[in-house]
Amino acid sequence: MPFSLEAYLEQKRLLVDKALHQVFRNPGNCPATLWNSMKYSVFAGGKRLRPILCLASAEAVGLPQAAALRIACALELIHTYSLIHDDLPSLDDDDYRRGRKTNHKVFGEAMAILAGDGLQTLAFEWVSKPTAYPAKHLKNLPLVVHELSHNAGYPGMVGGQVDDVLSEKQKPQLKKVLFIHRRKTGALLLASVKLPALLAGASRPKLKAISEYGASAGLAFQIVDDILNETGDSKELGKKAGSDRARGKMTYPAAIGLEKSKREVGRLTQKAVRSLKPFGAKAGLLIELVQYMARRTM
Ligand code: IPE
Ligand code: IPE
Ligand code: MG
Ligand code: MG
Repeated sequence: MPFSLEAYLEQKRLLVDKALHQVFRNPGNCPATLWNSMKYSVFAGGKRLRPILCLASAEAVGLPQAAALRIACALELIHTYSLIHDDLPSLDDDDYRRGRKTNHKVFGEAMAILAGDGLQTLAFEWVSKPTAYPAKHLKNLPLVVHELSHNAGYPGMVGGQVDDVLSEKQKPQLKKVLFIHRRKTGALLLASVKLPALLAGASRPKLKAISEYGASAGLAFQIVDDILNETGDSKELGKKAGSDRARGKMTYPAAIGLEKSKREVGRLTQKAVRSLKPFGAKAGLLIELVQYMARRTM
């Protein structure tokens, strides 16, 4: 049977969802409201792109799927926390996400903030469980936790979010948008493909190659998010289109226009593909994924 990317994405989404249900199998002494609030956003139907990139990277570097799924869940938990906080009235003030009301609209602001806190720490608890890994991978686990913290924290996602908020209504500048996008979105996408390589103990050239792929793919991903915010359909996106312009966000289309932004996505996609040269035939899935990310409509 010929390879179908749609079927592949669906199969991996189901696998990731099953693994995420494992994370949420036992509430322990978690307050019920917090538990429900965290689950509400995690199981709201995201594309699971970061976990899927993580699984594809694991295949390229030869990391067993069980270990990769641990990392994949942690990435999705951190991503979901970032979305809950991103939508808060004091940040982007959005009412819809993943096709439903945003977390704070349902559970209130206090619980949305705490659900984000809870998801972030749960991610680190889940990924750092020593007994979840065979000894040969366990020795690399500190590298994974360190890299994930770095990419999710102020040098990465949180720092990018800060500049995103502070740049509202300022005159768009390409250099600045690039700096914002690399961190607010690019850093976690880069981590998605780099962490499996770190855990597997991949060679230096392979680590460099997959990091370059992740950086290009991550930046392209956010440029597409910007483009879709201008041109996409709220219903299909599951979130409100046109909001960037309304808030005066510093985006790629605002800085260089829609056409140039689209060309930049094409250029970065090709660059990401070229980066994977050291992986030879093992790069197939990662190539398919970055090309899909460029043409996505949701
Ligand atoms: C949206 O990410 C927010 C960004 C970082 C650009 P996704 O487009 O991956 O959102 P979900 O996970 O599918 O909802
Ligand atoms: C989201 O960026 C980035 C993070 C959540 C870290 P945006 O604010 O541009 O993404 P959407 O459009 O709300 O999904
Ligand atoms: Mg934002
Ligand atoms: Mg937003």
